[in-house]
Amino acid sequence: MKSAILITAGPTRERIDPVRFISNYSTGTFGYELAKESLSRGCRTTLVSGPTALKPPEGVKFIGVESALEMARAVKKELGRHDCLIMAAAVSDWRPLSPSKNKIKRELFPGTLELVENPDILKASGAAKRGKILVGFALETEDLERNALRKMRQKNLDMIVSNKLDRKARIFGDNETDALIIDKFGGKTMVKGKSKKQLAGMIIDKVLKFVM
Ligand code: CTP
Repeated sequence: MKSAILITAGPTRERIDPVRFISNYSTGTFGYELAKESLSRGCRTTLVSGPTALKPPEGVKFIGVESALEMARAVKKELGRHDCLIMAAAVSDWRPLSPSKNKIKRELFPGTLELVENPDILKASGAAKRGKILVGFALETEDLERNALRKMRQKNLDMIVSNKLDRKARIFGDNETDALIIDKFGGKTMVKGKSKKQLAGMIIDKVLKFVM
């Protein structure tokens, strides 16, 4: 039977009012590359994506979402129908406590914006794992390996892909990527100067070995 892979991509947008939001610089490119590589290996592929400028690859089941809460709901609903979750989305860690129904007038802004924590989608999936393969990402500015290992354990993952964000970083939007891939059996692969497509292909190949 075909393997089924659930991939999340892109940023989330956390609404402040009808015209403003909190988000991040994620372009979604890597998640979409993962979806293409998954499709090209014959997997049934679902892509849950925050807002991006990208076109969903042909053949994918596409679920467009905006906020972290919407993404969490979509992942929860879909996970049971898949063998694996690859959480490539850059989920906003916080959201405004009380988004305003109407545009906040400049002179009425109180000066601070109260935020609350969003659910950790990957951690929640890890806690209710039921045999699914879970892959996470870790974007770090320091202690790449130690932080990646900690996140892998804390979120009960099978594999984690870690990138270092430094002054020369080539993460958000750029095509060339360095990454450290660690799996729960102690496997470690350092990837240097690969295209996002190549790195995405390597990750899908590793995932398929776990699934089979
Ligand atoms: N993630 C998630 N839900 C969140 C935040 C992150 O599912 N609310 C996922 C990301 O998609 C990624 C992994 O968790 O696969 C790690 O995300 P990252 O932002 O590096 O880590 P955090 O757990 O948010 O920790 P910190 O920001 O403190 O480094």
